[in-house]
Amino acid sequence: MDRVKTIAVLSSGGDAPGMNAGIRAVVRAALNTGLNVKGVLHGYEGLINGEFKDMNKFSVSNIINIGGTILFTARSKEFMTEAGIKKAYDQLKNANVDVLVVLGGDGSFRGAYELSKHGMPVIGIPATIDLDIACTEYTIGFDTAINTAMECIDKLRDTSSSHLRCSVIEVMGRNAGFIASYSGISTGAEEILIPEDIDFANLDSLITRVKIGMKKGKTHYMIVIAEGMSKHLGGTVDIAKRIEDATGIETRATVLGYVQRGGSPTCRDRVIASMMGVHAIKCIIKGSLNRIVILKDGAVKDIDIKEGIDIRKTFSTEFFDTMDGVESK
Ligand code: F6P
Repeated sequence: MDRVKTIAVLSSGGDAPGMNAGIRAVVRAALNTGLNVKGVLHGYEGLINGEFKDMNKFSVSNIINIGGTILFTARSKEFMTEAGIKKAYDQLKNANVDVLVVLGGDGSFRGAYELSKHGMPVIGIPATIDLDIACTEYTIGFDTAINTAMECIDKLRDTSSSHLRCSVIEVMGRNAGFIASYSGISTGAEEILIPEDIDFANLDSLITRVKIGMKKGKTHYMIVIAEGMSKHLGGTVDIAKRIEDATGIETRATVLGYVQRGGSPTCRDRVIASMMGVHAIKCIIKGSLNRIVILKDGAVKDIDIKEGIDIRKTFSTEFFDTMDGVESK
């Protein structure tokens, strides 16, 4: 491939706090090495429609502390078709883009890989609050999301204790229990229910534990449940009602929802996003393309995109042990 002159950057999938810090780093590092940068608005959907915007260093001023993404994001159905990918590829070629940088999650990287098969070199930067990308130890947005969830659960515990109530709190994580486990452990929850443990999901035994716990004198019974597990058990509101009906203990449901995806990113998210953004440009300069930037053994590195998306995420037994060890059932 000839020398890279122009890169494009987009954010895709669910937004994550710190995406802006990542975009800022990509744009600044690229401009500093003499590359032209185009932002793509509205993720792959915008790419298909050719929504490009020339970026200069002022395009990314005053955004490092802001949640969301200045490039907007979307989940594109059309991009999941062969025709959609071809359109996206043609738009990149017409705009003279040599490399596309994608900030997003697993699905976004699979899309990027498809583009690379058509001949468009790509670099992925992991950004999702769910932490569910197997090839990396960290994904941008997770730290902000768990701190938001932790603060909310602390507040819910205050009011649950005052009323001697049981509380069922649903946190995000369609297929992954990382937000639930971190926010549950850090708030001393009585129970943490995650999709990785779905085979052991049993509402009857949970109800028994709530009864015993409250009888023993607990002032609250906090159950943190990941979205994926809640769906499996019939939904958070329904779970709370079933607990209340079976135990006679007042039980409230709280779905934290999209509040976890917003807010000013934490220091960790800003710094890691900056490091990953700069690393993405280093890869491009070296000619190391079709890579995912990752955090491995605490350092920012990169891995072949195909290899990266093929790795399956596992939940560490150490984490299961920690949850078991500290849950105050
Ligand atoms: O960003 C990941 C995630 O937060 C999941 O945990 C959740 O299921 C999903 O996004 C919801 O996304 P949306 O409703 O925006 O498609």
